Amino acid sequence: MKKYLVIGNPIEHSLSPKLHNYWFEKNNINANYDKRKIDKSEIKQIISEIKDDKLDGINVTVPFKSDVIPFLDALSEESQITQSVNTIYKQDKKLIGHNTDIKGFELSLKEIQFALENKTIFILGAGGVVPSIIYALEKLDVSKIIVSNRTKQKTENLKKYFSNISIVDWGDQPEFDMIINATSLGLNKEDNINLNFKNINKEKLFYDVIYNPKETNFLRTGKNLGCKVSNGKMMFIYQASEAFKLWHRVKPEINEELKKYLNL
Ligand code: ATR
Repeated sequence: MKKYLVIGNPIEHSLSPKLHNYWFEKNNINANYDKRKIDKSEIKQIISEIKDDKLDGINVTVPFKSDVIPFLDALSEESQITQSVNTIYKQDKKLIGHNTDIKGFELSLKEIQFALENKTIFILGAGGVVPSIIYALEKLDVSKIIVSNRTKQKTENLKKYFSNISIVDWGDQPEFDMIINATSLGLNKEDNINLNFKNINKEKLFYDVIYNPKETNFLRTGKNLGCKVSNGKMMFIYQASEAFKLWHRVKPEINEELKKYLNL
């Protein structure tokens, strides 16, 4: 039986095992997918389990997406540019790191009727997932990407990899067409992002990377303004389906039954 794992800290909330195990059953794949909460000091050992054939693949989540990089033999171009790995596999005895968050974000946008060309995108946050979002948006020919983060130093680090982004102070609110919450504000239902969204017309798109809770205060604000809103549910499902395709060479089905099963 093949074995897969998602590593992170915290990890209790992860729906990846439920999702991958569901697809194993649907596709008659003899495999098991588990989750493991780890410390940074355990990364080397766990990754070596793929080399020793004790594991067949690993998904990596917060906060280890960059920390795994020194232990891999090669990176896909996407992982290299974003310095972020969420999927590890073995090919010709080499451990390869790939980033399926980019494709996950891209595919989730395709489902939303919102033309992004020549639009201004305002990103809140500068954590692990933000390089993937910027990379995807740059490919979509948006005209401007503005990033704001409580700790400004992190946005300045991002600028080293993505020189075209603009930076504004945390709390400032520039003009935008699409706003993305990529902070962890909203994971607790009562969390609020301290921005004044008055005078915003309904042509905007509010996108939250968070999918649990389904509707953060941020998304509720967007909805009340009459704007389009999307949570991170489809990004999560698509990043998983891209990893599944890579590992098993099978495109898993994404349908309403699945979303219901995940309660998303
Ligand atoms: P990491 O920072 O380890 O990559 P993450 O979950 O990917 O973790 O990112 C958390 C994001 O939410 C960061 O942008 C963080 O801002 P800081 O860089 O200033 O820490 C942001 N965040 C978390 N709590 C916040 C809060 N109370 N107010 C504003 N931003 C917050």
